Amino acid sequence: MANPIEVLLKEKRTFKPPKAFAAHAVAQPRIYKDATNPVRFWEKEARALDWFKPWRKALEWKPPYAKWFVGGKLNVSYNCLDRHVAGPRRTKAALIWEGEPGDTRTLTYWDLYREVNRFAAALRQQGVRKGARVTIYLPMVPEAAIAMLACTRIGAPHNVVFGGFSPDALRERIRDSESTVLVTADGGYRRGGVVPLKKNADEALLECPTVKTVVVLKRTGQDVPMQRGRDVWWDEFVKEAAAYCKPEPMDAEDLLYLLYTSGSTGKPKGIIHTTGGYLTGVTATTRYIFDLHEGDTFWCTADVGWVTGHSYVVYGPLANGATSVMYEGTPDWPDKDRFWRIVEKHGVSILYTAPTAIRTFMRWGEKYPEQCDLSSLRLLGSVGEPINPEAWVWYWRVIGGGRCPVVDTWWQTETGHILITPLPGVTVCKPGSATKPFPGVDAAVLDDHGKPAKAGYLVLRQPWPGMLRGIWGDPERYVKQYWSRYKDIYFTGDGAKLDEDGYFWLLGRVDDVINVSGHRVSTMEVESALVDHPLVAESAVIGRSHEIKGQALAAFVTVKEGVATSLELGDELKAHVVKKIGALARPDDIIFSADLPKTRSGKIMRRLLRDIAEGRALGDTTTLADPAVVASLKAKYEEQE
Ligand code: PRX
Repeated sequence: MANPIEVLLKEKRTFKPPKAFAAHAVAQPRIYKDATNPVRFWEKEARALDWFKPWRKALEWKPPYAKWFVGGKLNVSYNCLDRHVAGPRRTKAALIWEGEPGDTRTLTYWDLYREVNRFAAALRQQGVRKGARVTIYLPMVPEAAIAMLACTRIGAPHNVVFGGFSPDALRERIRDSESTVLVTADGGYRRGGVVPLKKNADEALLECPTVKTVVVLKRTGQDVPMQRGRDVWWDEFVKEAAAYCKPEPMDAEDLLYLLYTSGSTGKPKGIIHTTGGYLTGVTATTRYIFDLHEGDTFWCTADVGWVTGHSYVVYGPLANGATSVMYEGTPDWPDKDRFWRIVEKHGVSILYTAPTAIRTFMRWGEKYPEQCDLSSLRLLGSVGEPINPEAWVWYWRVIGGGRCPVVDTWWQTETGHILITPLPGVTVCKPGSATKPFPGVDAAVLDDHGKPAKAGYLVLRQPWPGMLRGIWGDPERYVKQYWSRYKDIYFTGDGAKLDEDGYFWLLGRVDDVINVSGHRVSTMEVESALVDHPLVAESAVIGRSHEIKGQALAAFVTVKEGVATSLELGDELKAHVVKKIGALARPDDIIFSADLPKTRSGKIMRRLLRDIAEGRALGDTTTLADPAVVASLKAKYEEQE
């Protein structure tokens, strides 16, 4: 029998929204027409929020800086909580949480409101004022959302650092943001083990003089040292706090949060997001793209340490008064059916996950989802990297039972919210294509000269409300990174092509950023971690294709004179990268090379390295220890350049 996915791909190139779904969808076809004046469209969406003071001007665009809803005042936690507890959503589940060991908690809007108020009041009591940065380094527990919302309540911008980052990476982010408070936990559960968050934090804090207070949540109960005068348990911290904390009226353009992401240099950049535009963007996109109805249970599987967790676990769903599911652990703990057990148990109706997860589920086999009742699902989403058509169709057929629309959503940390996406009741989907720009978004594909092209660089020609407002402390890098390729046009760093129907097909990054399992890793960051090792002279890191992760890291390493290479040294180098950055940056391959092939101008020949790593240029990579082999490969490639 032929492979059912191949059959589907051959027979069905396009997927129309099911009629019954389309009839009741939040987004109807006229939405594109309604957005022919984008500013007016976004203004209408902004009006769906509660403002303490209306804006004077919807958009002020002085490239490369945009201001949205100028003069308007609002508060994010007020929009996510107060306005819901004032009505019938008071007793509705806001967060349904499941810990990896199987413990669960449901927080109604009222519960969440109380918790957020208390934590916000405690922060304020501690002297945290509007504008003071708070770093959050927590596992996926409700307190992560509580801490974030509490920060927004008092106008203290948060800086959430993914719990998988190393002490070094945490330190860099605390220092750059000059945070005065760190919120962490004793540990978190992951794949049956414990992530030692407090221990990592203590190591990071050795060189973070700005941090005066560390709030520690008890999650695992393991023994952790507490530094007197600095560290305080979460429960103690909120014990005396007032039950109500007045929300700070924030200017639409006040800083809401910083989120660090990898760019094409060694140093992560603190992406700046502000209040009014960001909340408008995430609220509208959540409602239309995920077709939110009152009874939905929405599960975005991203960690709150990433932008997807910010926008679609916390702010988008809660601003809409939806029920958001949070899960602490990995999909294979205790078994490979964990995600489907969660869907079944909580009646998840909308699932938003990453292609790398979908490909992993495909490999594990259909028996795991088949064991569970997935009939509550009605919509599926994908984000983080290009989804291959096979994975798209598998997701649609096996997880969605052939009845749920699939939305492949393109966006970035910098964009704040989804920008290219199908609308589930409207768009005819083509597996592998993120389809069309969201209403009010002006995306285009340009060639080197800035002319519209069928294939080239993905750009955004007009500002959108959730766009970044800069890089923290580095305005020059902001201009250089995003605004210097084309005049007054935002450069995404992605390649894309357009098909005959004007559908966008994302091709991947065109800079030195590698997308590993949907997470951005900069080659330079990994290279600097490698050369930080005392035995390494030089290194070049490239992304090679990988069946599950999309891309994997291959590191070419030249060791110092007289150092013997070995498998053990390779493992040691991988561990060194994990220590410097975190497990997400662990190279899959360490390839020792006598020297690194470079062009005459000194640029590393990355195409050659990619061909070697993918087995096209050389079978046995151990021969790279011979300088003559490198030289001859280089000569061959130079002829072709
Ligand atoms: O290359 C694109 C890829 O992920 C990058 C953004 O990464 P990050 O800021 O970590 O945010 C990830 C989640 C929003 C983009 O530049 N990317 C994201 N979504 C897609 C994608 N590539 C193709 N298709 C997507 N749907």
